Amino acid sequence: MACLLPAVLASCSGPEPKDKALEAKVEKLLARMTPEEKIGQMNQVSSYGNIEDMSGIIKKGEVGSILNEVDPQRISALQHVAVEESRLGIPLLIARDVIHGFRTIFPIPLGQAASFDPELVEEGARVAAIEASSVGIRWTFAPMIDIARDPRWGRIAEGCGEDTYLTSVMGAAMVRGFQGHALSDPASIAACPKHFVGYGAAEGGRDYASTFIPERLMRNVYLPPFEAAARAGAATYMVSFNDNDGVPSTGNAFTLRQVLRDEWGFDGFVVTDWASATEMVAHGFAADSKEAALKAVQAGIDMEMVSYSFVRHLPELIAEGKVKQSVIDNAVRNILRIKYRLGLFDHPYPDGQQPSVMYAEAHLAAAKKAAVESAILLKNDKETLPLTGKVKTIAIVGPLADAPYEQLGTWVFDGEKTHTQTPLQAIRETAGDKVQVIYEPGLAYSRDKNGAGIARAAAAAARADVVLAFVGEESILSGEAHCLADLNLVGAQSELIAAVARTGKPVVTVVMAGRPLTIGKEADLSAAVLYNFHPGTMGGPAIADLLFGKEVPSGKTPVTFPKTAGQIPVYYAHHNTGRPATRTETLIDRIPVDAGQTSLGNTSFYLDAGFDPLYPFGYGLSYTTFGYSNIRLSSSALKKDDVLSVLFDLENTGKYTATEIAQLYVQDKVASVARPVKELKRFTRVTLEPGEKKTVAFDLPVSELAFWNINMAKVVEPGEFGLWVAGDSQSGEETVFKVID
Ligand code: NOJ
Repeated sequence: MACLLPAVLASCSGPEPKDKALEAKVEKLLARMTPEEKIGQMNQVSSYGNIEDMSGIIKKGEVGSILNEVDPQRISALQHVAVEESRLGIPLLIARDVIHGFRTIFPIPLGQAASFDPELVEEGARVAAIEASSVGIRWTFAPMIDIARDPRWGRIAEGCGEDTYLTSVMGAAMVRGFQGHALSDPASIAACPKHFVGYGAAEGGRDYASTFIPERLMRNVYLPPFEAAARAGAATYMVSFNDNDGVPSTGNAFTLRQVLRDEWGFDGFVVTDWASATEMVAHGFAADSKEAALKAVQAGIDMEMVSYSFVRHLPELIAEGKVKQSVIDNAVRNILRIKYRLGLFDHPYPDGQQPSVMYAEAHLAAAKKAAVESAILLKNDKETLPLTGKVKTIAIVGPLADAPYEQLGTWVFDGEKTHTQTPLQAIRETAGDKVQVIYEPGLAYSRDKNGAGIARAAAAAARADVVLAFVGEESILSGEAHCLADLNLVGAQSELIAAVARTGKPVVTVVMAGRPLTIGKEADLSAAVLYNFHPGTMGGPAIADLLFGKEVPSGKTPVTFPKTAGQIPVYYAHHNTGRPATRTETLIDRIPVDAGQTSLGNTSFYLDAGFDPLYPFGYGLSYTTFGYSNIRLSSSALKKDDVLSVLFDLENTGKYTATEIAQLYVQDKVASVARPVKELKRFTRVTLEPGEKKTVAFDLPVSELAFWNINMAKVVEPGEFGLWVAGDSQSGEETVFKVID
C-alpha cells in the first residue's frame, strides 16, 4: 500500500504486504476445514467456567477467539486444548480490553492525547503490549479513535478527543506501539481500532444512541483516523454499536466493504462489538438472530463477539443459498491470515519461564512521564504554581487526593490499585520535613453530598499557606454507558471549593476526571487549576513534580471545554454560519424588560452562555511564557503538488525551561462546500530554556488540504487559505496563501 499520509501518521512500516508463503498456508488450511470449523473460527466467546467447561467447544473447533481471559495458566491450558486436541490444531486468539495499560496504567487516552506527543503514546501502547502479551493476550480492543465532540458521552475518556488530525496521529501511534516492529514478535499484540464508525456522535451524548452523520462529514471528520490506523497496519477493526441514519454499523456494507476493504485495501479481519450482531434485532434492522447473522456477514463482519448467531444460523443460511460459501471462506481467510501473522501457529503459549514484566521500573517511568505530559495548566494567577520555598504549610483537601482506584480511570480491568501512587503520598514525600502537610479530604468520594467534613477542610485551609483541592470524578462516572447530562462537579465538591476559598488562602484546584467538566465557577475561585483527566498508576508523583516545579506543565486541551452543558456541541473546527457570532456577546442581562421583538443582531450564540467555550481546543499554560513571531511561508502561491514550508520563531519569554506545543491551523476560505473555520494540520513539542529562541519549521504538502467536496471527491480546491501558528486554536495572527491550478 502506498504511503499517502503524512509521515507522522504512517509508520510506513505500515500494513504487512501480502506474503505469498503465508497466503499459501492459509489456503492449505482452509481447504482442510469443514463448514463447521470455518464458522467456528468466526466465533468469539467470553471465557467462562473451568477449562473442562470450555474444552468441548474448543476441541470441536467451534471457537476462534476467547476474550476476557488473563490467567496465563488458563490461557496456556486452553491453547493446549486447541492446538493438541482439536482436529486441525488452530490456535486460539486471546483478546482483552487493554485500553490504557495492562497492569501499569497510563493516563486515560483523552489525557494521553493532551500530551500531543505521539512517541510517548506509542511507548505507552508498547508497554501495555509487553505486559499483556506476557500472559498470552495477543489482541487488544484498542485504540478507540472515535471523534467525540460531546463530553456528556462517557466514552470520550477512551478516545483522543474532538480533532480528526490529532486522533489520527495518536491512533496510528497506538497501533504502532501495540503491534511493535512485527506482529510475529511474541511481545506484539494485534490492534483493533474501534468503533467503526461514528459512535462518538451519539445523539445527546447518550451511549449507544443513533448517529446522523452524512457521508461528507463521515469522510472528512470520522473516517480519517481509521484510515490512518489502516495505513499504520492495524490488524483488525471493531464495529460500533450505533446505527447511522438507520443502518447499524454491524450491518453497514458501505463502511465495511466499500471503504475499509475496497478503498483502503484492508486485509485483516473485522469483529462485531459485544453482541452487536444480534442487537440488530433490537435496532429493528433484523427480524431475528438468523437475519442478524445474515446481515452481519453480508455487510462484511468476519468474527462475531459472544452472541452465537453465526454458529447457530450460518450453516442453515449457507444451505438455503442465502450466504455464499465464498463469503464465509473470505472471512476465515482474514482471520487465519492474522493468526499466521501473529506467529500463533509457531508460538501459541505464553512463555511461563520469563521473569514478570509487570510494573517494571521502565514501565512506571513511562507512565509517570505520560502523566506529566498529559496535565494541562488551565489557570495560574500570580504565579501561584509552582509552589516555592515560601510555602510552609499545605492543606490537602478533596476526595481525589488519595483515591488509588479512582485515579486509574475508566475501563481498567487488570491494573491494581495497590500499585497506584496517589498525590497525597507523593506530595508528602516531595514536601519532606520542612513543609507541614495537613490532610482533610472534606468529602469521602466525588459524589459525596454529606458536607459534614467541609468545615474541617476549611479549618485546615485557614491554617495553611496554600490549599490543594483534589476534585473531579470517580472512575466509574465516565466510560461505556456512563454518560452525564450535567457536567458540573458532582456531590458537594463545589461547596468544598467555595468553603476553602472563603478562607482567602490561594486555592490550587487539581482536577482528575474522565471528561472536560464545566468548572468555570470553581476556576474563578481558584488561583490555579491543573487538569489531569485520570492520570493512572503514576499520577501522584507526576502531579507532585508539577506542583513543586520539578516538571513544567505542557499539556493542551484535546477537546473544547464548554462553559455549560447546554453549549454542547461546542468544538473549534465548526463551520461559520451565515451569521457568525462575535466572541464577547452574552446579552441576557442587557435585554430590557418588555423589550420589543428583535433578533439582537442576528448572530449565532446563546443569550446566557455566549459563543466562546470555557477553554478552547489546544489550550494550556506553562510556568513560563512563549512568544511566536516572524511567521514566513515558503511561497504565497502554491501548486497542488507543492509542499508549503512554514517557518516561525518561538521564544521562551519566561523563567523556566519548558515545552510548548506549537500548532498549525488552516482554513479553506471559499470552497464548493463550507469548510471549518480552522483545522489543525500540524503540531510539534518544542523545549526551550529561558530566553532561548528557535526557528521552528512545519512542512505541509498541499495535498493535505484535500477534502471531500461537493462531488464527493477528495480534492484540493484552488483558492485562498488562512493559516495560523499559535499555542491554541483561538490565538495567532492570520497569514494567507493561495493554491493555484
Ligand atoms: C463493549 C465495548 O463497546 C467495546 O469497546 C469492548 O471492546 C467490548 N465491549 C469488549 O469488552
